[in-house]
Amino acid sequence: MYFKYEDENLLWHKINLNNICESIEKELSENYRYIGPYYLYHEDILKKRIEIINLALPKSNFYFSVKSLSNLQILKKIRKYPRFGLDVVSEGEILRGILAGFQGSEMVFAGVGKTKNEILLALEKNLKSIHVESIQELKAIASLAISIKKTAPIGLRVNPDIPVDTHEYIITGMDENKFGLSNSELKEALNIIKESSSLELKGFHMHLGSQIREVNPYIKALSNLINLADEINSIWEKPIDYLSLGGGFGIDYESIFEDKKKGFPIEELEKVDIFRNCKYQIDFEPGRFISGYSGILIAKTLYIKEKNNFKIAITNAGMNDLLRPALYKAIHPVLPLIRKENAEYTYDFVGPVCESADFLAKRVTSTKVEQNDRIAVLHCGAYGSVMGSNYNSRPMAPEFIIEDEKPVLIRKPQSIKEMLNLETDIK
Ligand code: LLP
Repeated sequence: MYFKYEDENLLWHKINLNNICESIEKELSENYRYIGPYYLYHEDILKKRIEIINLALPKSNFYFSVKSLSNLQILKKIRKYPRFGLDVVSEGEILRGILAGFQGSEMVFAGVGKTKNEILLALEKNLKSIHVESIQELKAIASLAISIKKTAPIGLRVNPDIPVDTHEYIITGMDENKFGLSNSELKEALNIIKESSSLELKGFHMHLGSQIREVNPYIKALSNLINLADEINSIWEKPIDYLSLGGGFGIDYESIFEDKKKGFPIEELEKVDIFRNCKYQIDFEPGRFISGYSGILIAKTLYIKEKNNFKIAITNAGMNDLLRPALYKAIHPVLPLIRKENAEYTYDFVGPVCESADFLAKRVTSTKVEQNDRIAVLHCGAYGSVMGSNYNSRPMAPEFIIEDEKPVLIRKPQSIKEMLNLETDIK
């Protein structure tokens, strides 16, 4: 894995974290009077993950899922890779993509609740495809396209009703979920497209869920989509362009010092005949697989409380900075930046927010952590900063990325004034 201790110092892919954090904190306090937690990304790791997926799936296109990590400066880096576009789900994400330099044709648009304005924006910016999730949405797109004299490129999102082994909140491909079209809706959607002068069927899409660690559901999903495409191609004049299997490739949150190989075995996909020999273009929308390991959250312990058989380390990072532990009971390893001794103790690492769900990690073993020590919360690149909030009127954390071994600010800290302006600057 990417972490190791050298003497007492925690290294992250060759970077001495304590040294780099001292310089970051100096910049934050001198330039912004900010002393809170911050996200830190590592460009080398982002590159490595992109390399892995590129090598494993040499014929696929990838639409990086912006919702997992949406920082503009990071999207700009991702844009440099051939075969990489964006999976976007809102007006804000479309505009991020454009600001990062992506063409409309390099973005696919998903989401169950697209608004009229968002659909119009997608059509105006010539997005590659709109992934449609309901009959009413399809009809709305058809009439909006007519109103601006355009043809809307459509990808039908199929609900495959395929179970996956992951947290219930991030399963999306079961019939009971709000996503995608059921079989009967799919038939109706195809009829609507056939009769319409403003809709063009480009492909079929599905997304099984997130943090999936097994290949089988993808094989089943692909075989369903191939059958569907074969059926359509045998009767429709224009062949479909692509099949999209969405995102969902999981990572191994438990790996710290070595790769425990509990993430998605990506190299297995190309070994499966149905993948290797597929006559259709297969696209993916990876988020976490690329961004997950690339970010950590740096926090400081404010106070330590002693309990009978464990200690509570109260840190300056709360559930408003990292929601995953509270929302999904997600496990993110926590490491002190300086290892003080070899003895280990049991800790709850908690935040300052007034809720008992406000924790970073519970009953975990760690070497000694004292007041004012820095800790790193690992594998927070995906769904970390992006799920941050102003809960308890706490400002959003800034973001840095390590480029050529130096930290570069990529998101300023939000000032309290900026946060309050939305409510005070009212005429
Ligand atoms: N494509 C679609 C249509 C999606 O809905 C998603 C994620 C992705 C791609 C990317 O999935 P990934 O490769 O990152 O698994 N907040 C949750 C994850 C929610 C995922 C939502 N959809 C978490 O922290 O685990």
